[in-house]
Amino acid sequence: MTVLTAPVQQLTRWSLGHAVPALAFRARARRGDLQARVVGATNSGGDLPTDLFDAIREAGPFYRGGLALATSRHDVVREVLASPDVAAGRIAATDGVLARPAAWADRRVPTGPLTPPSLLAIEPPDHTRMRKLVTRVFSVRAVERLRERTEEVAAELVEPLARRVEKDEPVNLVEALAAPLPVTVICEVLGVPEEDRERVRHFGDMAAPSLDLGLSLQRFREVEAALRDFERWLEAHVERVRQDPGEDLFSQLVAARDDDGGQLDDLELKATAGLVLAAGFETTVNLISNAVSLLAEHPEQRKALVVGEVPWLAAVDEALRFDPPVLLTARTAVRDTEIAGTRVREGSPMVAMLAGANRDPEVFAEPNHFDVTRANAADHISFSSGRHYCLGAALARMEGEVALRTLHERLPELRVLPGAERRETRILRGWAQLPVG
Ligand code: HEM
Repeated sequence: MTVLTAPVQQLTRWSLGHAVPALAFRARARRGDLQARVVGATNSGGDLPTDLFDAIREAGPFYRGGLALATSRHDVVREVLASPDVAAGRIAATDGVLARPAAWADRRVPTGPLTPPSLLAIEPPDHTRMRKLVTRVFSVRAVERLRERTEEVAAELVEPLARRVEKDEPVNLVEALAAPLPVTVICEVLGVPEEDRERVRHFGDMAAPSLDLGLSLQRFREVEAALRDFERWLEAHVERVRQDPGEDLFSQLVAARDDDGGQLDDLELKATAGLVLAAGFETTVNLISNAVSLLAEHPEQRKALVVGEVPWLAAVDEALRFDPPVLLTARTAVRDTEIAGTRVREGSPMVAMLAGANRDPEVFAEPNHFDVTRANAADHISFSSGRHYCLGAALARMEGEVALRTLHERLPELRVLPGAERRETRILRGWAQLPVG
């Protein structure tokens, strides 16, 4: 029985989560639906569709697309993300007649970044309780203590990269620095043994498209298989850390108690480690590669950074604003409500376009201009906002700063060579290949 039902459930999950929405988006895009056109445009991996973000913004607080309420206004994105009347989670074709098959198919869904009890898929009171415990461990002070180690890792990676560049050998910056730096740091934070790192990184890469809609059946199967392997590995890891805790932050999280003596259970620990690992690999790599590419396009601004006229953190924030690693996030209204003066009905899906909010001219003067001296660059919403605000923001900004400074102090005139290719992922945006020399 199980042998037969599992593949059918998987096929149903794929149909409802990918095939049907992809068809719906394509049909809507053909009819000019702006939100559906954003999905189409981000699929191609080219430039950000800033003209579509502008048109959505100009339509009012919300653009009523056929599939969701979309906004790319800075104030409205923040209002959506702060609202107690919306819940985080992906938009699925699960209303009406599709609700029952979807619930049946989801019985066997592998745990991923968007399935409970991942912080990204739960809401108060559970979210408040879990997040408080995780924040205690991932404090700003704890991140500052990681700075020295991050500097060592960056230096160890940049030196061989620089020697290859000096020999006129093209180097893929993603492989040589942007990926291994955050992977090494997050693995140390989570106490991942060295021999497991390559495998864990592979899980992360395979799991990243799980955020996207419209995967092919084959890709979807690969993603689910990787998520299951990842789940098994996480189970064993939690068990190992319980038996033999180390000095790392994850060992502290396993032991952490809230004021009432409550602790995270095994499922919550597994979900948190999985989310932190995946977030740690799959986003900061994009920040570093996007920023290096932007600075190579603006050598005069890069020079101001190298000579110390402008702090590196300013370049990190401007790169996050201009080319964010996470383009958008979704919410669903859990009751009838009003947001930004617009009535929103219970069950309405909403799309908060983080990348669009970052180009709102009401907040950022000349928003389509990359400028590391922009005074308010840090007002970007690339780390989201409200109760799901990125828990790793301080770590990611620190890693970005260390990576950019170490690289450019050693190679101040680094060039991007032909052959750059964007990653396949759609909601997450970065480079797969960034040849430099
Ligand atoms: C440049 C790098 C990063 C970017 C752009 C980024 C972006 C985001 C965004 C947009 C969200 C919220 C999504 C939503 O509201 O639906 C988020 C949440 C989260 N991020 Fe990050 N992230 C980055 C790095 C990291 C790192 C290094 C970690 C690891 C510690 C991390 C851990 C998390 C966690 C645990 C959450 C869930 C928070 C919650 O739901 O309460 N992130 N991140």
